Amino acid sequence: MVLNVGIIGAGRIGKIHVDNLRCIPQVRVKSVSDIAVGHLQSWAKEKQIEVLTTNYEDILNDKEIHAVFICSPTNTHATIIKEAASSGKNIFCEKPVSFSLEETKEALEAVEKAGVKLQVGFNRRFDPNFRKVRQLVQEGKIGNPHILRITSRDPEPPNVNYIKSSGGLFMDMTIHDFDMARYIIDSEVIEVFANGAILVDPAIGEAGDIDTAIITLKFANGALGIIENSRRAAYGYDQRLEVFGDKGAAQADNNRVNTVELSTAEHVSKEKPLYFFLERYAQAYVDEVKEFVTAILENQPIICSGVDGIQAERIAKAAKESLETGVPVKLEQIGQSTAIY
Ligand SMILES: NC(=O)c1ccc[n+]([C@@H]2O[C@H](COP(=O)([O-])OP(=O)(O)OC[C@H]3O[C@@H](n4cnc5c(N)ncnc54)[C@H](O)[C@@H]3O)[C@@H](O)[C@H]2O)c1
Repeated sequence: MVLNVGIIGAGRIGKIHVDNLRCIPQVRVKSVSDIAVGHLQSWAKEKQIEVLTTNYEDILNDKEIHAVFICSPTNTHATIIKEAASSGKNIFCEKPVSFSLEETKEALEAVEKAGVKLQVGFNRRFDPNFRKVRQLVQEGKIGNPHILRITSRDPEPPNVNYIKSSGGLFMDMTIHDFDMARYIIDSEVIEVFANGAILVDPAIGEAGDIDTAIITLKFANGALGIIENSRRAAYGYDQRLEVFGDKGAAQADNNRVNTVELSTAEHVSKEKPLYFFLERYAQAYVDEVKEFVTAILENQPIICSGVDGIQAERIAKAAKESLETGVPVKLEQIGQSTAIY
């Protein structure tokens, strides 16, 4: 069977998914929609896209399309998920599902009612190194996990206009780390305490956001976690984690262009980390779409589901509330538990 796919939103991430999907023999990327298509004409021709439209409903109404990739801005996701589900399409939706737990819940209910598959774009779950760490934890190699440390620093902040519509650091950036924390520890976060600062650029503060944060987590299984974020690391994209347990520890380091270390009488040096997410997570973007396609074609479970999407959003909301109030926030105070799904 050939899986016919439509892409909604052909910006940075939408174009990456097009490239990766086109490498999968069982996939035909038939259609792309974007509110502005003028500049996409020659790109679409080069990618052999048959339908280029400004109206995503053309994709939803196309009976040939089996799956859609929602890669438009976050404030459009929930509505499009609901419409796509009621059109019977399987859905890959970029993170976060929405900025509002109510909207996310409604979208997940529509997916459940329609019986279609939904994968949320937490691509880091598919990073080979982080995946290996999770596997080691699952195999009991480090014993009972006690402490998780996630370092997650961007090489440079996005522009201030982006910051204003991003949903804030926790919803835009740390949300990947919140998902990673649940994925590695395999237990729900029950409490969040967040500290934040504006140390990178005062304009980020003027836009109502922070650029530096330390968040501590408590998990239902008793483990503790710490996530630290910065919007600017002078040496590049810093993405590391370590999980420590009663039998040992497992850690994943940064990826580099090469692993050569030069040692001289003056210094020891090696390559900087890969520059940003497109480079560092290139393989993860390939694997997340491959596994989504396989899940549909072979009717297998989705690795990163709608429940994973809403749980990360709940943690992001709790972190924001903790930052604003200065006290730890229990997850049970934030939205509904996943039990309703
Ligand atoms: N998983 C990741 O690593 C990752 C990385 C970047 C962005 N994202 C997420 O992907 C989404 C898009 O981000 P981006 O950086 O690609 O943004 P972008 O601005 O580069 O692209 C968004 C595109 O959607 C189009 N668009 C807007 N409204 C639309 C509509 N109603 N129908 C069709 N197209 C529409 C815009 O014209 C634009 O081309 C966001 O939700 C973001 O959080 C995820």
